[in-house]
Amino acid sequence: MSGFPKDAAARVQLNDGQTMPWIGLGVWQTPPDETADVVRTAIELGYRAVDTARLYHNEAGVGEGLLDHPDMFVTTKVWNDEQGYDSTLRAFDESARLLQRDVVDLYLIHWAMPQQGLYVETWKALIELKKQGRVRSIGVSNFEKDHLQKIIDETGVVPVVNQIEIHPFFQQEELRRFHKSVGIQTEAWRPLGKGTVLKDELIAGIARKHGKSPAQVILRWHLQNEVVVIPKSVHRERMAENLDLFDFALSEQDMAEIATLHRADGRMGENPAHPVFD
Ligand SMILES: NC(=O)c1ccc[n+]([C@@H]2O[C@H](COP(=O)([O-])OP(=O)(O)OC[C@H]3O[C@@H](n4cnc5c(N)ncnc54)[C@H](OP(=O)(O)O)[C@@H]3O)[C@@H](O)[C@H]2O)c1
Repeated sequence: MSGFPKDAAARVQLNDGQTMPWIGLGVWQTPPDETADVVRTAIELGYRAVDTARLYHNEAGVGEGLLDHPDMFVTTKVWNDEQGYDSTLRAFDESARLLQRDVVDLYLIHWAMPQQGLYVETWKALIELKKQGRVRSIGVSNFEKDHLQKIIDETGVVPVVNQIEIHPFFQQEELRRFHKSVGIQTEAWRPLGKGTVLKDELIAGIARKHGKSPAQVILRWHLQNEVVVIPKSVHRERMAENLDLFDFALSEQDMAEIATLHRADGRMGENPAHPVFD
C-alpha cells in the first residue's frame, strides 16, 4: 500500500506540499482543565498531532500542553456561528492566541452549514490566512461532495483534508472515493465509533485472532484504508493502546468482513446536508 504509515510518527503527504501525522489525539469532550495534562501525556507516549476546535473550549489547554513542542501538529476549526469572511479571520486570531501559536498547522471549517450559505466566504477567509502564512494548510470537515465541488469551483483551491464521521458502522466509501479523485486526504472523526462499535462481535473476533484490542483493530482498519485517525481518550493506557498499531496487519478477509458492518443508518452525528445544533 503506497504511503502506508510504518510507525506512530509517520506523516501523510497533503495536496499543498505539507505533511501531517496519520494519527492524532482528539480532544472533543476532554475537560478544559485536564486538557494540558492529557496533551503532555500524549506527547510522552509518541503522539505528534492534536485535533481541537473552537467548539471544544479547550484550545487554551491544548496550547499549554504544546508549549515547548513547536513540532507538534495542531488542528483547530472555525465554529458555525463564526462563519463569514471577517468573522472567520477574527475567530482564527482568537484560536491562534489561545493555542499560543503564530502559525497553526491545519485550520478547518467545522461544518458547511449549507442553510447559512456562508461556507464559500468562510473558505475564502481560510485561503487568505494561508496566503498570510498564519496557517500551513487549510481544509474542511463534514463537507459533502456538492459542498466540496462548490468551494473548488468558486476558488480553485482544493482542501487538503475533509474530516468526516467514519467508523465500521458508517464507512463513507463513496465520499472517500471522491476525495481520492480530487486529491483530498480523508480524516476520520469518531474513528472508534464510541461504545457500540467497540463491542461488536465481529470486531471482537478479529481482535482475538490478532491478539489486539477491538480499538486497535478498528484504527488499523482506518489506516489500511489510508484514512487519517484522531481517536480521543483521556486515559493514558488507552492513549498508548491507540498508537500501538504497527505489529500486526489485517488480512484482505478481515478487511472484507469489516466492510460488511456498514449500515445505511449507522451515522451517529448530524447529517452534513442539514445539521441541527442546539
Ligand atoms: N469534525 C467534527 O465534527 C468532529 C465531531 C466529533 C469528533 N471530532 C474529533 O474526533 C475525535 C474523536 O472522536 P470522538 O471523541 O467523538 O470518538 P472516538 O475517538 O471514536 O471515541 C472516543 C471514546 O472512546 C473511548 N476510548 C478511546 N480509546 C479507547 C480504547 N482503546 N478502548 C476503549 N474505549 C476507548 C473514549 O473514552 P475515554 O476518553 O474515557 O478513554 C471515548 O469515550 C474528537 O475528540 C474530535 O477531536 C470531530
